[in-house]
Amino acid sequence: MTDLPFDTVRTVFAPDAVGRTVRVRGWVLRSRSSGGIWFVVLRDRTGPVQVTGRRDVLGPEGFQAAEHVQVEGAIAVEGTVAADPRAPGGREVRATRVTVLDPGEPFPIFADQTEEFRLDKRHLAIRSQEHVATFRVKAELLRVLREFLQDEDVLEVTPPVITGNAAEGGAEAFQVDYFGRPGYLSQTAQLYLEAMLAPHERVYALTPSFRAEKSRTPRHITEFLHLEIELAWCTFDGLLDFIERMFVAACHAVAERRPEELAALGRPPEELRAIRAPFRRLTYAEAIARLEQQGFPVHWGSDLGSAEERALTIEESQPVFVTHFPRELKAFYMLQSPGDPRTVEAADLLGSEGYGEIIGASCRETRIDRLLERLRAIGADPAAYEWYLDLRRHGNVEHAGFGLGIERMLRWMLRRDHIRETTPFPRTPSRHTP
Ligand code: 4AD
Ligand code: MG
Repeated sequence: MTDLPFDTVRTVFAPDAVGRTVRVRGWVLRSRSSGGIWFVVLRDRTGPVQVTGRRDVLGPEGFQAAEHVQVEGAIAVEGTVAADPRAPGGREVRATRVTVLDPGEPFPIFADQTEEFRLDKRHLAIRSQEHVATFRVKAELLRVLREFLQDEDVLEVTPPVITGNAAEGGAEAFQVDYFGRPGYLSQTAQLYLEAMLAPHERVYALTPSFRAEKSRTPRHITEFLHLEIELAWCTFDGLLDFIERMFVAACHAVAERRPEELAALGRPPEELRAIRAPFRRLTYAEAIARLEQQGFPVHWGSDLGSAEERALTIEESQPVFVTHFPRELKAFYMLQSPGDPRTVEAADLLGSEGYGEIIGASCRETRIDRLLERLRAIGADPAAYEWYLDLRRHGNVEHAGFGLGIERMLRWMLRRDHIRETTPFPRTPSRHTP
């Protein structure tokens, strides 16, 4: 049977498919048999379909072999498409021949098991319908973001992941032994993107970033997919405008292309279609004032953690920008706000409904003296950043950029409780296998 061409499950549901002979193959979602009829739901990349096989058609041996296929075993089926209102989607395949490709062992994952067990068996757990839908949406999100950036004439570039300095602050970088010298796994591609600005003006990279944060929160993983964009000649308003347009375009396109998956995962696509710019802009000072009113023990200079970000957005149905943070809270490369040396021209985009930070953005400091001052203030060795400072010596122009955590965006988009559900093999402080 394997040398014949195969159909996808989707073809079974084509308007004119009833009565046609099809050959489909895939994995068993569930099966049972009663009264000489074997019922199986088979899944391929295009979805599930019900297949029935009668003992008198398949023959006693064929029937017995089919009956013994386990959940997630693999089969190939040749049969006739029939309309059946009792079958999911109103169609089924009535098998004339079943080939067992792998009967499989009893599938170890079923209802009511602990989360830890499922994480140990993640390589199998990702076959669930929920994960299938999640990673379809993730692929679509990556695609629409790339399409948007291509339309905006932003060039995709490929920065390294092994680096000699820890850009966002040494404490949270994974150190690796690089032939006897210290190396780090990249926390951000930003400094490299800044280097690629002069020849290309607008660049982006989609690379894994690593954070050795011990935080066990529903929004931290130690390896995440980072979409980073760097734009020459860009002002603060231009930056926020770009972010809004990209975010809205991504929400609308995903709603358009993956409505069923979104609905199945608890995010009606209409809600993504309703995302509209401009987003509310709250200065850090305003945010602190609001939080104080709500009884949070915060003051000017306090960092905004999950609880604070949640309080600021729990009532919101649209994302919110928080801008102009105290410079001590932010990275050394952020531009001192013109007219206010205490703050930097930075913005965090917070997801609605309490989901918290999805994007970190800023204009970049162009003055070498200020960069050196900030590097010293954070205890970094300016020598390690000499190559970066060089960029300010040769065609130094205003520029800005941002980083978007793909899994953070997806967690918000799909209303997942925990960020680990948005990546197939999550890396957390307690787990780097399977
Ligand atoms: O705000 P961050 O640290 O900004 C930067 O790294 C900048 N250098 C980016 C740039 O301007 N090119 O990180 C950016 C985003 C966050 O807003 C968040 O969405 C995500 O990266 N992120 C994480 N996602 C999952 N788990 C973690 N531990 C994350 N840390 C950051
Ligand atoms: Mg940030």
